[in-house]
Amino acid sequence: MKKVYIETMGCQMNKSDAERMYGMLEYCGYYQTENPKEADMLIVNTCSIRKLSEDKAYSQIGVWGKRRGVNINEHGTRVYNDYPKIIFAGCVAQQYGKEVFKRAPYVDLVLGTQRLYELPELVKRIENGERIVSIDETPYQESDIKINRVKGINAWIPIMEGCNNFCTYCIVPYTRGRERSRKPELIIAEAKKALSEGFKEITLLGQNVDSYGKDLEPHQNLSWLLRQLNALEGNFRIRFVTNYPTDITEELIDTVLELDKVCEYFHIPMQSGDDYVLKKMNRRYNYAIYKKICDHLRSRVKDVTITSDFIAGFPGETEEQFQNTLKAMTELELDYSNTAAYSPREKTVAAKWTDLYIPEEVKTERLARLNEHNRECCLKSNQKYVGREMEVLIEDFEVRKNGDKVITGRTRNNKIVHIPCDRDLRGEFINVRITNARTWYLNGEMI
Ligand code: SAH
Ligand code: SF4
Ligand code: F3S
Repeated sequence: MKKVYIETMGCQMNKSDAERMYGMLEYCGYYQTENPKEADMLIVNTCSIRKLSEDKAYSQIGVWGKRRGVNINEHGTRVYNDYPKIIFAGCVAQQYGKEVFKRAPYVDLVLGTQRLYELPELVKRIENGERIVSIDETPYQESDIKINRVKGINAWIPIMEGCNNFCTYCIVPYTRGRERSRKPELIIAEAKKALSEGFKEITLLGQNVDSYGKDLEPHQNLSWLLRQLNALEGNFRIRFVTNYPTDITEELIDTVLELDKVCEYFHIPMQSGDDYVLKKMNRRYNYAIYKKICDHLRSRVKDVTITSDFIAGFPGETEEQFQNTLKAMTELELDYSNTAAYSPREKTVAAKWTDLYIPEEVKTERLARLNEHNRECCLKSNQKYVGREMEVLIEDFEVRKNGDKVITGRTRNNKIVHIPCDRDLRGEFINVRITNARTWYLNGEMI
């Protein structure tokens, strides 16, 4: 029995791709292993969002390359041993294509994001000794494939992939291609399957979920898809990420309110609180517009959680402009934000503004302040719920070192709650009273 190990970096989309690769590879006779040392095939599923993630991909492959070993053949040239097979997949693969071979000559296959479903065919070819680059931007059509999901409560289901927005800092449009929606029947079948396997929460994934269905015939939209999924039998929750601020429609808000399984949670990256920076980022809104969207959501959807992403040290960002970001975070009472220091990405527009780059130490210092603000916002947001009764879907059961037994889950609005409990209640919906709030989580007790 052959074994495959996948090391996944980056976002949920990549993690979801890994589950698909494991599923497809089983048909090719490779079973999943948690131990790279015993693998006959090693896959690094890479992320390109920042320089650091790209570096991580190459250093991983470097370690594996050493395992491959080199021989000198009868002509005196270096030949790498045939095993383990090494595959370089994901966003860095899509971006660099055959250049990967120059840096890592022992790689057997460079697999682009849009060619994921070609994997079984390509595996046969690399087993016969071919070395292949498959990064064509024409998506390889998916068929009804097996998905080996990470066991748990939450099933991630991609509904669309790609991005047409070309924010000036972002590599994603170059690594994931143009927006395209998956067929609703595939999504619904996948959801049904996940529910039958015991998953209790479905999270719909896409770089811009609001664009869902625009390219389908007949046209559909996210609200329509949510209604189809909400109608499936069983007690489960539905979430979706990520929304582009100005693409959130009134219909979507109505849908969230109307459908019992759809949770009160929106992830709406803002990136900067400064109008000039937003313009340079090619985001299609300013502070006032984003604020209006937030205020509107909060007024319509009770207890809605709004999370965001911010970048510190975008080229040319002044201290004053950066302070507008801090102010925005606080004024909008954002519940949580992902934060990052700007990292120049090859091919993107902003990367060309080298004369405007902010020194590393300034970016680091701004990021630290951003994180401090984020912590304050999170704590404040969590404190709102102390004393409240909330429904928690349990995801984890843990016996701590001191013997305490604790179950952990999330509320509908995506707050993490720890609850003392002797029983393993994973997968159950329980009612909890929130007893106190910490920065990253709430404590509660069973009612
Ligand atoms: N589609 C989402 C974001 C996808 S990328 C949106 O429209 O916002 C996830 C996050 O990575 C982004 O929100 C951004 O905050 C961060 N990011 C993207 N490119 C970056 C870069 N070059 N440097 C630092 N952070 C970056
Ligand atoms: Fe990147 Fe912007 Fe597209 Fe989000 S919307 S994936 S930040 S280009
Ligand atoms: Fe990274 Fe690609 Fe996701 S660049 S964040 S793995 S879409």
